[in-house]
Amino acid sequence: MEDEEGPDCGKADFVLLDQVTMEDFMENLKLRFEKGRIYTYIGEVLVSVNPYQELPLYGPEAIARYQGRELYERPPHLYAVANAAYRAMKRRSRDTCIVISGESGAGKTEASKHIMQYIAAVTNPSQRAEVERVKDVLLKSTCVLEAFGNARTNRNHNSSRFGKYMDINFDFKGDPVGGHIHSYLLEKSRVLKQHVGERNFHAFYQLLRGSEDEMLRELHLQRNPALYNFTRQGAGLSALETDEKSHHQAVTEAMRVIGFSPEEVGSVHRILAAILHLGNIEFVETEEDTLEQGSLAVTEEVLVDHVAELTATPRELVLRCLLARTVASGGREVIEKGHTAAEASYARDACAKAVYQRLFEWVVDRINGVMEPRGRDPRRDGKDTVIGVLDIYGFEVFPVNSFEQFCINYCNEKLQQLFIQLILKQEQEEYEREGITWQSVSARAHPTRLWAVRERAGKQTCGGRPGRAGAQQGRCGRGWLAGLGSCLLALPQVEYFNNATIVELVERPHRGILAVLDEACSTAGPITDRIFLQTLDTHHRHHPHYTSRQLCPTDKTMEFGRDFRIKHYAGDVTYSVEGFIDKNRDSLFQDFKRLLYNSTDPTLKAMWPDGQQDITEVTKRPLTAGTLFKNSMVALVENLASKEPFYIRCIKPNEDKVAARLDEGHCRHQVAYLGLLENVRVRRAGFASRQPYPRFLLRYKMTCEYTWPNHLLGSDKAAVGALLEQHGLQGDVAFGHSKLFIRSPQTLVTLEQGRARLIPIIVLLLQKAWRGTLARRRCRRLRAIYTIMRWFRRHKVRAHLAELQRQFQAARQPPLYGRDLVWPPPPAVLQPFQDTCHALFCRWRARQLVKNIPPSDMAQIKAKVAAMGALQELRQDWGCRRAWARDYLSSATDNPTASGLFAQRLKILREKDGFGTVLFSSHVRKVNRFNKRRDRALLLTDRHLYKLEPARQYRVMRAVPLDTVTGLSVTSGRDQLVVLHARGQDDLVVCLHRSQPPLDNRVGELVGVLAAHCQGEGRALEVRVSDCIPLSQRGARRLVSVELRPEQPEPDFRCSRGTFTLLWPSS
Ligand SMILES: Nc1ncnc2c1ncn2[C@@H]1O[C@H](COP(=O)(O)OP(=O)(O)O)[C@@H](O)[C@H]1O
Ligand SMILES: [Mg+2]
Repeated sequence: MEDEEGPDCGKADFVLLDQVTMEDFMENLKLRFEKGRIYTYIGEVLVSVNPYQELPLYGPEAIARYQGRELYERPPHLYAVANAAYRAMKRRSRDTCIVISGESGAGKTEASKHIMQYIAAVTNPSQRAEVERVKDVLLKSTCVLEAFGNARTNRNHNSSRFGKYMDINFDFKGDPVGGHIHSYLLEKSRVLKQHVGERNFHAFYQLLRGSEDEMLRELHLQRNPALYNFTRQGAGLSALETDEKSHHQAVTEAMRVIGFSPEEVGSVHRILAAILHLGNIEFVETEEDTLEQGSLAVTEEVLVDHVAELTATPRELVLRCLLARTVASGGREVIEKGHTAAEASYARDACAKAVYQRLFEWVVDRINGVMEPRGRDPRRDGKDTVIGVLDIYGFEVFPVNSFEQFCINYCNEKLQQLFIQLILKQEQEEYEREGITWQSVSARAHPTRLWAVRERAGKQTCGGRPGRAGAQQGRCGRGWLAGLGSCLLALPQVEYFNNATIVELVERPHRGILAVLDEACSTAGPITDRIFLQTLDTHHRHHPHYTSRQLCPTDKTMEFGRDFRIKHYAGDVTYSVEGFIDKNRDSLFQDFKRLLYNSTDPTLKAMWPDGQQDITEVTKRPLTAGTLFKNSMVALVENLASKEPFYIRCIKPNEDKVAARLDEGHCRHQVAYLGLLENVRVRRAGFASRQPYPRFLLRYKMTCEYTWPNHLLGSDKAAVGALLEQHGLQGDVAFGHSKLFIRSPQTLVTLEQGRARLIPIIVLLLQKAWRGTLARRRCRRLRAIYTIMRWFRRHKVRAHLAELQRQFQAARQPPLYGRDLVWPPPPAVLQPFQDTCHALFCRWRARQLVKNIPPSDMAQIKAKVAAMGALQELRQDWGCRRAWARDYLSSATDNPTASGLFAQRLKILREKDGFGTVLFSSHVRKVNRFNKRRDRALLLTDRHLYKLEPARQYRVMRAVPLDTVTGLSVTSGRDQLVVLHARGQDDLVVCLHRSQPPLDNRVGELVGVLAAHCQGEGRALEVRVSDCIPLSQRGARRLVSVELRPEQPEPDFRCSRGTFTLLWPSS
């Protein structure tokens, strides 16, 4: 901040002034103003001087510079206060409020707009649509409210003629989720009449000058404001027509954005037009006394037509309401009473005012309806926090001051009272409560940081001098800084003017001005303003802040019987009692309410719900305007007091609204009545921050090893002491009974920075712990899942095994040995196990079956198994069901004629070749490569394959060692064709002879016997099944196939074109 705020710009905080005097204060204010520094702090209070010119202080760049900064890091600015309020709300989840005060034209409304802009700019980084909508409405609402609630006055060209308090609701993330506007006491008398140099509300001029010709025609209006009584006064003061036009467009656009429907906007325009027409209606007393209208008539009846049309009400009723009123005359009777011209004008004015007021309130309600936080559930979303922004009319003094000024100034008294309570009184009381005084410890140590705790001494001393410190304030302040010696200095009791007594004067029950006024209003009979004044005089004769001409006859500035004067905290104001009673009573004839309630325009009707009541219904007297205002002020003050306040004190530099001119006298007055000097004094005697020890620890304990995560010291106070000592900050604080007082904001900033450095680490730690917790939780859950799975699997396995056991109980029963048992489907995990079991079972079952086979059958069985392996499913019939006799040539049944011869031949061969067993023997029909077909015999021993000649005692024609036989080829049919392949030999093509039984199928037997033998020898035998068998004979390739011939008596071969065909007698 030092870089941007050099010494030539004065002190950025009045607290840093060398001396606290009005002269020094004004000098600093002026110096800064001249250097374009319109903002200056008093601690956390911001003093703002209206520059009356555009300064390059605002906008996105400036906002970025203040965002997230501490108050003291940057030059004083509205943004810094907005940021502080926002951060306080976010950090501590506390509601905060920003109270903007100052007189009319001091820049309050502008300040509030900058604050809103700041808040809108720094929130909702995630661009949530709902939040954007709320922000849009918040920003746009200002424009609409200004059109209807602001007017040009002598003091401010855009003066707010109503008080505004706006709450902005934030969610836990700090994004605005809604808002609410309270409006206070619209100065509705402005609708009728304005002071010289002033105007009516902007809306009227915007309508007249800004709307299209077409629309004006529809509203029966002409563009010239001078044509209407209500706008005539300010007609010459209007801004440029083009300005008015663009404002009108901006307002209409803003209304559209906010959510006003086109019909509603149309109604608003019609209501404004109706008010203008109403203002032009005048009455004349006529001679003839017609039955309905008495002797009164409207001069320009067409105006009545316009009003009726624009308000969507029947013309006759409008006229009747203007000229007469109905009164209940006891019971259900009503009578109509004609007005005099004066009464009629009064009623017309009351109606115009009320219609405008209701219109304004309706606009506010409508905006509130749109801004209301939607779909918020505190259990889900957390509690909303609120920032309130109060921009309320400043203190006002006019040449003639009436009831409105009285209310406005009363409001300012209330706010000053709140300020006193919060800033001045509370501060001092708290020091007292906490037992804090200050004393200098050493002149050299820290001249501005000399704080220690001391028992609060009843006697206060200032510079060692006895007497009331306050009386000597100026010197006391000076002495405090200049003469810091070794003497003890007590906390200077800052003297300030407590305006509680003025507030009392206004609002006290029974005797207060408002109470007396209410009394006068409720009394029947002609109580005049003058009698009201007399009552005031008697009640407040001795009040130091009240006077009147009666009580002070020499004061010629007041008129006898008309004026009274209140010495406000901000200065004396003389009020004229004229119209007080009337304005307080604020009566509007019931006829108008009923008329407008029965309008067919739904928007207008909605503004008059009280028009529903029947005239004969006895109604309670409505609360007076004064009482309503007082109640709303009490509620407002209560609301503000419950929030953490931030103050902006606005100062108007000159009365002429010119840039770069600071009228010293004018400002001095404002500085005085705003109590800024006292504020500085209290602040200098005070502390920037105070926090209860536990809260302080909670926030900063991570910055010190003794306090993190929890301290072991005797008390929180001691722990705080240790923490501060570690940081070397103990010199800048004081220890109260329950709170720590921190003198300078820099200390707080140091602590905050230390904290901010550590937060990411702590966040990491918490994240780590939490992630660990989550992971452990997940792990536990997974473990549980696996345990359950394990047990479930185990259960399934057991159940399966039990089922298997149950089913296979009968498996040992011969002869099937469990052949037909169905294996239950196993759990997946048991599939391999079950496959193994199944294989084992099959082997076991085979064993059981084989066990019972006699040894003599074993060779046959082995041969059959081998044949099955080679031929199953490849050949239709391989003679499995027969008993395989093998040596058919030795069998007397099979070879009755020559079995003996064969036996002899066998004997010879056995002796010669020494074979062990005969594997197979049979007669065959063969064909050779010369196509010669012959009957031969085939003998297969364990050594050789012999081809024998049956016709010559089975002489050996060819002997092939069996180990050269490499394979066999057979067909898939029933025929007995066999081709034997041997290494280095021609393939031998034969057809096994059938004999007994006919067509006995021996191919399978030959294949099985030979395959089993080869298996036993551990070599492979190739068995091919094909219906077209290739042959190789002396290098020539041939084919042999089978042809079925039913008429063929015996199987035989045929040869044609190098291809052999076995002609097979098919059955
Ligand atoms: N910060 C500012 N910068 C420039 N002009 C300002 C500033 N504050 C106020 N003004 C000028 O002063 C006028 C009155 O300010 P306004 O906020 O309406 O006063 P108040 O609400 O206190 O009556 C504004 O219309 C504007 O011209
Ligand atoms: Mg204003």
